[in-house]
Amino acid sequence: MSAVLPPVVSVHLPSDWAASGLVDDVRRGLGSRPLRLPPKWLYDDEGSRLFDEITRLEEYYPTEAERAILRLHADAIVAASDATTLVELGSGTSDKTRLLLDAFTRAGRLRTFVPVDVSEQTLRDAADEVAAEYPGVRVEALVGDFTLHLGHLPTGGPKMVAFLGGTIGNLYVEERAAFLGALADSLEAGDWLLLGTDLVKSTDRLVAAYDDASGVTEAFVTNCLHVLNRELGADFDVEAFTYVAFWDPAMERMDLRLRADMPQTVTVPGADLTVDLAGGEEIRVEISTKFRPGTLRSELGEAGFEVVEIFTDPPGDFALTLARLT
Ligand code: AVJ
Repeated sequence: MSAVLPPVVSVHLPSDWAASGLVDDVRRGLGSRPLRLPPKWLYDDEGSRLFDEITRLEEYYPTEAERAILRLHADAIVAASDATTLVELGSGTSDKTRLLLDAFTRAGRLRTFVPVDVSEQTLRDAADEVAAEYPGVRVEALVGDFTLHLGHLPTGGPKMVAFLGGTIGNLYVEERAAFLGALADSLEAGDWLLLGTDLVKSTDRLVAAYDDASGVTEAFVTNCLHVLNRELGADFDVEAFTYVAFWDPAMERMDLRLRADMPQTVTVPGADLTVDLAGGEEIRVEISTKFRPGTLRSELGEAGFEVVEIFTDPPGDFALTLARLT
């Protein structure tokens, strides 16, 4: 019998992280053209609730496809690696991760689990639950932004960094390269990356997944204007914007925007900013890049990761790529 070890939670976010980060991002994104807001501000309480609703939509396949891959292949993923520590970036409730934790446990290999997330309360709750469910596993949670705080990952023993959900697809090409490079710098040769990515598929299915019939995704994307109104005292007339979701075939990504229906002037006191939008002008809120095996190999290779195996769900909608830092 192994004992339940109390989780250790370390906080690497300054207490004003959200406040100061939001102001910087809004100044940068709405202070120059094209207008742009980073998608991380979509996930306040209401945004997280809406995203959760998205994952249960008929049209939105990625969540269940990734879960299917883990159900089918978690044991093979664990067997192919020699990791004894599992790090999860953007872990949230660590819901799908349990499939990996179970496989590590079956292999008798897991010593330490390191969930990393910006939401301290979600992380503390998840850490307590995982510690109770997996006796003998040390849970060392990190409150941090995975794009900024990769330097605090534990060393000693091979580790696997899981970055699930396809979130890397929200980064622009140069942001992805910077993120993978920083991740490689924070790891040791021989460490593992398990990367979830959505795959290129028919335009119809992609557009349906990001412009669902019941309008949940529209509400999710539009929520960023409510966030600015609440957090920065902005006066966005949310009704005066139309949700636009289109497939960009050259960049192979979904592009989610809010289009101003008419010319309008918006003030954002908390960011000390006034924005004059032309009629029809768009605010770029989120991209969701779709990958091919070739692009995965080359982008990971550029950062020093060698692809060991690409696991997909039976229809081939989503991929989990196991790669090793060389
Ligand atoms: C959470 C980033 C994986 O890109 O599919 C879903 C976010 N945005 N619908 C995605 C999202 C609109 C989602 N990720």
